[in-house]
Amino acid sequence: MGALIELRDEGKIAHIGLSNVNTEQLARAREMIPIVSVQNRFSLEGRSSEPVLQECEIQGIVFIPWFPLGAGSLSADGPIARVAEAHDASPFQVAIAWLLARSPVMLPIPGTSSVEHLEENVAAASLRLAQEEFEALAALGAE
Ligand SMILES: NC(=O)c1ccc[n+]([C@@H]2O[C@H](COP(=O)([O-])OP(=O)(O)OC[C@H]3O[C@@H](n4cnc5c(N)ncnc54)[C@H](OP(=O)(O)O)[C@@H]3O)[C@@H](O)[C@H]2O)c1
Repeated sequence: MGALIELRDEGKIAHIGLSNVNTEQLARAREMIPIVSVQNRFSLEGRSSEPVLQECEIQGIVFIPWFPLGAGSLSADGPIARVAEAHDASPFQVAIAWLLARSPVMLPIPGTSSVEHLEENVAAASLRLAQEEFEALAALGAE
């Protein structure tokens, strides 16, 4: 943090974000310098960073979920598949739509090596889940 603060003071970087922090670490860092984003592992099926997300919402900090697609290993059956079928979408699109619906500070960064998947993932931003769909999916991965 000290080195990052020096770089910021020298004008070499504008903003500081953190990755893989818990709420205590985030609070300690915020005592030293404004934090604009947190990048933690978070997806429909892996939500141990829920307390950090909630703190980001309170503080207006962008939350960037890494492995937003569970690194491509989303369950291909159950509620995700049912919601996907109802929207004529893929389970990956549903996972992204759920993240975007989960919080206004959420900025998913799905990785892909394919233009087709990139286009699908971008299109997921316009997929709107019904409240009952959102809740059924939310019940899946609570940890
Ligand atoms: N801060 C950290 O500690 C940390 C740690 C790990 C990762 N990250 C970052 O998190 C980001 C995402 O990580 P990630 O790419 O490993 O995981 P991910 O986004 O959860 O999953 C990527 C996998 O999903 C597949 N996929 C993507 N879109 C798809 C689609 N529409 N349909 C079917 N499959 C799809 C990809 O395969 P295809 O290539 O075939 O599309 C790839 O195998 C990266 O920017 C990475 O750098 C950060």
